[in-house]
Amino acid sequence: MNESNFNRRDFLKSACIGVGALSLSGCGDEIRRDADGEPIKNFGNENGLPSIDVLIIGSGGAGLRAAVAVRKKHPSLGVVVVNKGMPSRNATCMAEGGINGVIDFEHGDSHKLHAYDTVKGSDFLGDQDVIAKFVEKATEAIHELDYAGMPFSRKDGGDVAARFAGGAKFERCNYAADKTGHAMMHACLDEAISSGVKFLLDHYLLDLSTDGDTCEGVVLLNIRTGDVVPILAKAVVLASGGYTRLFFNRTSTPFNATGDGIAAALRAGLAFKDPEMLQFHPTGVRNGGALITEAARGLGGKLINNKGERFMSRYSKKMELAPRDIVSRSIETEIREGRGFGEGMGSYVLLDVTHLGEEKIMGGLPQIRHVAMLFENMDLVKEPVKIRPTAHYSMGGIDVVKFDDMSTEMPGLYAAGETSCASIHGANRLGGNSLTDAAVTGKLAGEGAGDYAASRAAFGSGKRASELAQKWQLRIKEIVSGSGEPNELYSLREEFGRQNWDNMGIFRTGEKLEALNETLKQIQARHAEMKIANPNLAFNTALIDYLELGNLILLARCACVGALNRKESRGAHTREDYPKRDDVNFLKHTLVRLNGDEPTISYKDVVITEFPVEERKY
Ligand code: FUM
Repeated sequence: MNESNFNRRDFLKSACIGVGALSLSGCGDEIRRDADGEPIKNFGNENGLPSIDVLIIGSGGAGLRAAVAVRKKHPSLGVVVVNKGMPSRNATCMAEGGINGVIDFEHGDSHKLHAYDTVKGSDFLGDQDVIAKFVEKATEAIHELDYAGMPFSRKDGGDVAARFAGGAKFERCNYAADKTGHAMMHACLDEAISSGVKFLLDHYLLDLSTDGDTCEGVVLLNIRTGDVVPILAKAVVLASGGYTRLFFNRTSTPFNATGDGIAAALRAGLAFKDPEMLQFHPTGVRNGGALITEAARGLGGKLINNKGERFMSRYSKKMELAPRDIVSRSIETEIREGRGFGEGMGSYVLLDVTHLGEEKIMGGLPQIRHVAMLFENMDLVKEPVKIRPTAHYSMGGIDVVKFDDMSTEMPGLYAAGETSCASIHGANRLGGNSLTDAAVTGKLAGEGAGDYAASRAAFGSGKRASELAQKWQLRIKEIVSGSGEPNELYSLREEFGRQNWDNMGIFRTGEKLEALNETLKQIQARHAEMKIANPNLAFNTALIDYLELGNLILLARCACVGALNRKESRGAHTREDYPKRDDVNFLKHTLVRLNGDEPTISYKDVVITEFPVEERKY
């Protein structure tokens, strides 16, 4: 038996809260001791409801860093991390290429250069005050992860190894082969468990609950039983990932990246910032869009069209290492102009890494070799692999009002990682900055939420949480009362994904977006009327699919309105009818809120400090 695996399983099991422990009737008595022997109340029973000091929704890199940060700063606070599945099923785990942060200052790199690359990469939509702090904290984050046991690849001599990522002037993308996210996730999970963080698995976020203006907790659906569970918390951190499953047919993100936290925040009255800023990664495998890391190009991989040309020379001096918005547009242009291979959704160009040789590929890129074999039945050691851009990252998210603690407009509510928008990435995120974002914003949000919870005397009344839970119970009963065609939900989801890809993908026009706006309204109405033909509430996966699709439709409507109103091209947002960036009218963030069911738009200025806005050339 593999002893380390055995122990690890036990270790994780010991951190999971039994479902019964948080049921309405039976919560409240698990006590642990902190380092000073003080009892920690992991969960209690306040105002007749289960309660916890800090509740974190999402167990990716951001959620786990937040959880650890709470426990480090406030060892007597109880922390529960909620996940709708297993804690390791998240986008962090799927990140491959690396995590940016300057740790080698001896060869010319600096925080200022990392900041400049990030600002330019964002097409000047990033807030420069935030970015300046972000890059400093990035260095700290790499050292902390190293210390937490993350198995980084190493240089001779033992320093953490770094390589180039797109749009970067220096090799500051630190990595663990091409499994960086996987390595980070498990280091963070181990640290969270050993810090006394508890996990509530198979629970789905239905809504946030407020007491007056303040966040008082959440309402969850217990996927195992179908029970609706209101939980009170002194502070809540939303770290439930992004919404790239909008493009359901073609993305490199997990199936569960359905923007549940952002949708719940919108329904609770918060602003969704820059929803139209959706990133397409240049190199997804042709079949399905799973990620072939940018690191393949960082190590020298070449993009080739059907004429055998290394076509990036037409588009950028940086060739394959231009930022990903530029590389994605270039690939799609090659395909549109007849220089790709294949047809329709099966079109592709080639990524060639064969010249790197087996040893280098197996040392630095073993995972993508596996991915290419799995999805394309191709061995990239021996032949170029078929690739096409794939939906990869949401730059937009819940508007964060203060980067230092990742607080939102709602007291008691914090956001981190891809769920949040602190305006680090603007209109285009640089490769390698997302794991950094998770580590940095996760820690800040955890510390902020911990400070808030420690200073808060009492929990909310729970009145609203109980009302919301009752409302959801009735709604869920109604949703599962169907008797019709079981596949209707899935054909609607297919249609939704295809519509988004065709009309709000890499190239957009006002005409297409107008049409999509109307289509999305119809899809939303069809979804609202739809019922699931399975009344059994235990592990009703169709019910979860239904709820997730409802969130995605809401977020797509916001993204579409944002894209329609942004009459310019900036970063990942390419309007063919407005091909130029327009700094006079659109050097500003989109803010979308709900007015009833309708998305409404306002704008907020971008913060410019050190780097004047300039033409973006690579
Ligand atoms: O290409 C990649 O490995 C992706 C990295 C990222 O999105 O940061």
